[in-house]
Amino acid sequence: MMEIERAKELAAQTAVEAIRDHSIVGLGTGSTLRYAIEGLGRRVRNEGLDLKAVTTSFQGQLLAREFGIPTINSMNVLRLDVAIDGADEVDPDGNLIKGLGAALTKEKIVAAMAEHYIIVVDQRKLVSHLGERAPVPVEVVPDALTLVERLLQKMGGQTTVRPDHSKAGPVVTDLGNLIIDVKFPRIEDPRVLERRINDIPGVVDNGLFLGMVDEVIVGSITEDRPSVEKRSFKKRTAR
Ligand code: 5RP
Repeated sequence: MMEIERAKELAAQTAVEAIRDHSIVGLGTGSTLRYAIEGLGRRVRNEGLDLKAVTTSFQGQLLAREFGIPTINSMNVLRLDVAIDGADEVDPDGNLIKGLGAALTKEKIVAAMAEHYIIVVDQRKLVSHLGERAPVPVEVVPDALTLVERLLQKMGGQTTVRPDHSKAGPVVTDLGNLIIDVKFPRIEDPRVLERRINDIPGVVDNGLFLGMVDEVIVGSITEDRPSVEKRSFKKRTAR
């Protein structure tokens, strides 16, 4: 297995080991979360761990089915004990860019419902400023596409309607919407940017996750030596 994959698995597995019996668990989306869902499935099978999961995508739903994890709808629970997810960028304050897997809206709902929100990443995801590498993904109702694109450009963003390379046309999210990836030259104030983007009619949500994280688990493999670093943050509860 490649070093990066081992680092992702290590971070995911560390989070999975902390899940307690009888928990309601939010499960994110992406290649790192695949390892978490697989690991959680092993604990259900081998230890009889009793849990219920809320997934954030069809990917997560199918993986939960494959690995024998019972799922429930977020409509039927008040809060989640814990949620685990990956991220595309993590800054030194634990703020995130998410959504390169196109599941950002449900991921943000689950993050906000979780008592304890854990992010699992490999070391490539750590940045000193949000937007250093990743664009900010914005989920948009199709009818609003031109309006939202125009206003994002007016805010200084370079926009791309995300293409789906496995078919002709754009990525369509699990909620039936489109994704605009927006590259900003520099994000000065992520909090202001998050609000300004979400104020545009037709925007469902965007991939800036600010002040939501309790813990970031970073997996790394250096010269074949695995290590895990845990970083704790104080989340802002009122959003
Ligand atoms: C999906 C996400 C993912 O968590 C993010 O893209 C990280 O994915 P990966 O673990 O494959 O790098 O935000 O919407």
